Amino acid sequence: MGDQRSSFTGKLGFVLAAAGSAVGLGNIWRFPYLAAQYGGGIFLLVYIILALTFGYALMTAEIAIGRKTGLSAIGAFKALDKRYAFVGYIAAIVPVIILPYYSVIGGWVTKYLVAFISGQAPVADASDAYFGDFIAQTGEPILWFSIFIGITAVVVFFGVEKGIEKVSKVMMPILIVLALVIAVYSVFLPGAMEGVKYYILPDFSKFSVTTVLAAMGQLFYSMSLAMGIMITYGSYIKKDVSLESSVKQIEIFDTGIAFMAGLMVIPAVFAFSGGDPAALGKGPSLMFITLPKVFASMPGGTIIGAVFFLLVLFAALTSSISLMETVVSIFQDKLKLNRTWSCVIVLLISVLLGLPSSLGFGAWGDILFFGKMSFLDFFDFISNSVLMPVVAFLTCIFIGYVLKPKAIIDEVELAGKFKRKDLFVFVIKYLAPICIVLILGFSILEAMGIIKV
Ligand code: PHE
Repeated sequence: MGDQRSSFTGKLGFVLAAAGSAVGLGNIWRFPYLAAQYGGGIFLLVYIILALTFGYALMTAEIAIGRKTGLSAIGAFKALDKRYAFVGYIAAIVPVIILPYYSVIGGWVTKYLVAFISGQAPVADASDAYFGDFIAQTGEPILWFSIFIGITAVVVFFGVEKGIEKVSKVMMPILIVLALVIAVYSVFLPGAMEGVKYYILPDFSKFSVTTVLAAMGQLFYSMSLAMGIMITYGSYIKKDVSLESSVKQIEIFDTGIAFMAGLMVIPAVFAFSGGDPAALGKGPSLMFITLPKVFASMPGGTIIGAVFFLLVLFAALTSSISLMETVVSIFQDKLKLNRTWSCVIVLLISVLLGLPSSLGFGAWGDILFFGKMSFLDFFDFISNSVLMPVVAFLTCIFIGYVLKPKAIIDEVELAGKFKRKDLFVFVIKYLAPICIVLILGFSILEAMGIIKV
């Protein structure tokens, strides 16, 4: 994403790059803890339904807008209709909010990688205390956060994403195989079958509006939607690439890895805690507490743990790089800064915004939003549960009623027939906007404690 618009060599290049941005901590860290927290099977079911409708329609729309205009979010909306340029601006804020806290988690992953390599703690002491003690400190988590965001910035600054992407093309398949091995192992731990049932079989009594909101926010996050990233990627693809089948492949990849991550973590939570609701509701710390226990119980667990966290680190880096690239190019375009300055400024802003998220589990742990959210949860909530649904809603309204779906359909049909055209139109014009408004309304009222859903 440099100054001139380059283009992907072909469909495979595009699908892999988009999947590199999509597959990351969202799949491996965020999906399992949400599924554990929001009722297991019911969350999984809602997520899959949303992926096949919302996710599919929005991703197609964003990529098509990008390819049609050849521009990134702000420019693309402006080029299509000046009055809607503001949607591009709101979309542009999202990665600015996500990058800092994403890097805090990236820092935790880096710490775990180094701890496993050096044969330290998490395996020897597979207790909940290790992680809690670590994030409650001030200096150490900030150090790891700085290392993670520093690596991201160096890659973006020197423009060596291609190198990272090449490595990650090798790492990703290994990650899938290793995740499969760990998942199979977890599933066969004594007591884990209950967890498999919890994860796979939907319990409709656990359904609530918040389940849908959480699943929807996760979907946008995981597929890198509603923040302009897919628009930018779309602007790099050639006209003869089939958008429909690319979207299908990216979705299968992204959802498949999330599903497997859930299978690694959730059965293990049951094996070690018997499905204790407190363990299931651990939130952002779940992966860091459960997986070390799995590794501790595995023969060769230290090595497996080290390899696993290395792979996760790569998946996280390809995502954080795409986040930072986006922010840097917005600063370059809008503030007319050169690349060096925009990298420096973005790095400084991200470090500043990341500090509260890092401190929020220790020194600043008393500061809670809406009486329950730490800084990290709060930033996550603002981006995933508020801004992204708003951007998604406005995108649907814009395409459904202003630009008209035909513009997107024509763009898709440049490379052959658009098979799921009717579904696309239905989702963009009716299903998605109505659902988003309802869910968003409920969730904001709920977060503020006005209603209980
Ligand atoms: N989709 C990435 C993940 O699942 C996160 C991300 C969001 C990356 C937005 C880039 C842009 O981890």
